[in-house]
Amino acid sequence: MIASYLFLRRKFNPLQVPSLPKETPGWPWGYSTQKQFLLEIGAGAGVHAIKYCQEHADQFLIALERTRKFEQLQRRLHLEKTPLPNLCAIRADAVPWVSTHVKENYLHKIFILYPNPYPKMKQRNLRWHQMPFMGFLISRLKLTGQLVLATNLLWYADEAEEYLTKVWGLKLLNRTVLKDPVKARTHFEKKYLERQETCVNLIFQRIC
Ligand SMILES: C[S@@+](CC[C@H](N)C(=O)[O-])C[C@H]1O[C@@H](n2cnc3c(N)ncnc32)[C@H](O)[C@@H]1O
Repeated sequence: MIASYLFLRRKFNPLQVPSLPKETPGWPWGYSTQKQFLLEIGAGAGVHAIKYCQEHADQFLIALERTRKFEQLQRRLHLEKTPLPNLCAIRADAVPWVSTHVKENYLHKIFILYPNPYPKMKQRNLRWHQMPFMGFLISRLKLTGQLVLATNLLWYADEAEEYLTKVWGLKLLNRTVLKDPVKARTHFEKKYLERQETCVNLIFQRIC
């Protein structure tokens, strides 16, 4: 139970985030402005990003991954027979990258699929929905833009739902329990569904 929702809406200062390494690519200018721009944070090995872009040629996805898993994403992308001009994969930490490169009211959709849950109490400030950065991230969504969050942990889904609706003012559009490993969108989703764990997919909308 959250005692005081407004108290939990901590202010984020984009000027205080550590700067990105010099070689980190910025916003992929030069792509059609007709496209809807989407962001995936923590894209891992890129399974979702690649499939999503194959199925949504009219949308442009920027997939961010900060660890060496990015190399798997790149390898997977290079192995694709057909190039994907609507996918831009960048190795970067999402907090400074978004703070530096993403305009306000710009994104159509943001995916955060199976984020690290940081289950220990002392690490709870690292959960995406508890970070002050979340308010900034939501401000990068267009009005009516969506945030898609998936997790295999019921407590995490419940807590994220409470924060995202009550602290950050999003509207919950849909909450689904996923069961079929054949339809898994990511490596982690496949692993959890094959173990018959419950996966929860939450879709939120920016309404103000
Ligand atoms: C549990 S994995 C899930 C990967 C993938 N979404 C999947 O479902 O298979 C979480 C991923 O988020 C990435 N990640 C965590 N914090 C990040 C950040 N601040 N910026 C970019 N990636 C981040 C981690 O490196 C890790 O690859």
